[in-house]
Amino acid sequence: MRVRKTRQLLLVICPFLVLGFFYYTFERLHGWGQKPQIETHQTRQHSSSLQLSNFVYDQEGFLLELDDMSLEHYNRYLSKESCKTGYAAAKMATLYPEFDKSAPMFLDMNYKRFSKISNFYLPFGTKWQERILDLILMTTESYGLGEKLENLNCKKCIIVGNGGILTNRSMGARIDEYDVIVRLNNAPVRGYEKDVGSRTTMRITYPEGAIQKAELYEKDSLFVLSAFKPSDFLWLCSMLFKIRLYNVDMFWKSVARHVPREPRDVRILNPYFIQEASFRLIGLPHNNGKMGIGNIPTLGTVAITMALHNCDEVAVAGFGYDMTAPHAPLHYYDKIMMAAINESWTHNIFQEKEFLIKLVKEGVIQDLTNGICSSRCL
Ligand SMILES: *[C@@H]1O[C@H](CO)[C@@H](O)[C@H](O)[C@H]1NC(C)=O
Ligand SMILES: *[C@@H]1O[C@H](CO)[C@@H](O)[C@H](O)[C@H]1NC(C)=O
Repeated sequence: MRVRKTRQLLLVICPFLVLGFFYYTFERLHGWGQKPQIETHQTRQHSSSLQLSNFVYDQEGFLLELDDMSLEHYNRYLSKESCKTGYAAAKMATLYPEFDKSAPMFLDMNYKRFSKISNFYLPFGTKWQERILDLILMTTESYGLGEKLENLNCKKCIIVGNGGILTNRSMGARIDEYDVIVRLNNAPVRGYEKDVGSRTTMRITYPEGAIQKAELYEKDSLFVLSAFKPSDFLWLCSMLFKIRLYNVDMFWKSVARHVPREPRDVRILNPYFIQEASFRLIGLPHNNGKMGIGNIPTLGTVAITMALHNCDEVAVAGFGYDMTAPHAPLHYYDKIMMAAINESWTHNIFQEKEFLIKLVKEGVIQDLTNGICSSRCL
């Protein structure tokens, strides 16, 4: 009992211990929104024009010389699948004039400079979470997608939803072609590769949704926390420091006790995407910027919002609830039926669906399994 108490105390005071360190280093931190965005942007444009200068096109845009071209570029050019740089953000800007692309996927040490999130409480912002966030971010030391993906001139991302609609559609190979493959919560891969693909770039989750069996975690994917309540950061802290969490009453169902991930593979999803999806895109009740009935978007829509800011092209698969079929399977991996979604008080599935239909209809995102529109986008 005494050991337990000491450990719990340690967990509570560890944020304070590093506070001094942060006051000391704060001056070395610099602005956020501007910094990495502009740098990557310039580097990108630079390298893409260099590559383009190796190619010679005729007036209709057909390639004349292939000599200096790598096989990879050649295949890309020939394939209809070639990637359109800046496409998703440009489309979004025509639908939502206020859409501003510059919002990084994950929080980094400069998050306090981003007033869009620092003035909001969880799950829409970081207010009052600064101490524990500082501790987590200082521990993970990594805040991006990794060099290889960041250096791509054009990124195609797919969000794989957990919908039963993925069953027996054999979409696996197509999903695996994307540069960035995002999965949600505990949706399994092993045993379902044919339908859902085998690669995972990142898994976005909250504690109650995290995979519980350590052996089911993919070896080289990022573990991304989408925090909805303060205890979610406490949970992550305990996973990172391998301190056992005793007070589990804070969670609405059982949570993973161990996440087999190194701190450098852990990220925190920028809460701005929850805020933007809820208030600006879907138009859910603002409720003074606080969590309330029906103003939390589903994780899938949050992930799509993230991708619209950070990917050149965005696709989805396994999305769409068919409310007219209460006995259809809700997920591709369990026996829960569609009717269960009606019990969820935090989401507003109907309003959210209208938003997703708009994205598909206007061609902002591509829906590989066609579950968002069914017949409504014809
Ligand atoms: C998927 O295919 C398997 C094997 O053909 C079959 O047993 C199963 O019933 C199918 N599931 C659905 C939901 O169609
Ligand atoms: C959900 O509830 C609505 C209204 O209460 C009902 O019309 C609909 O059939 C239900 N959907 C499912 C999938 O059970």
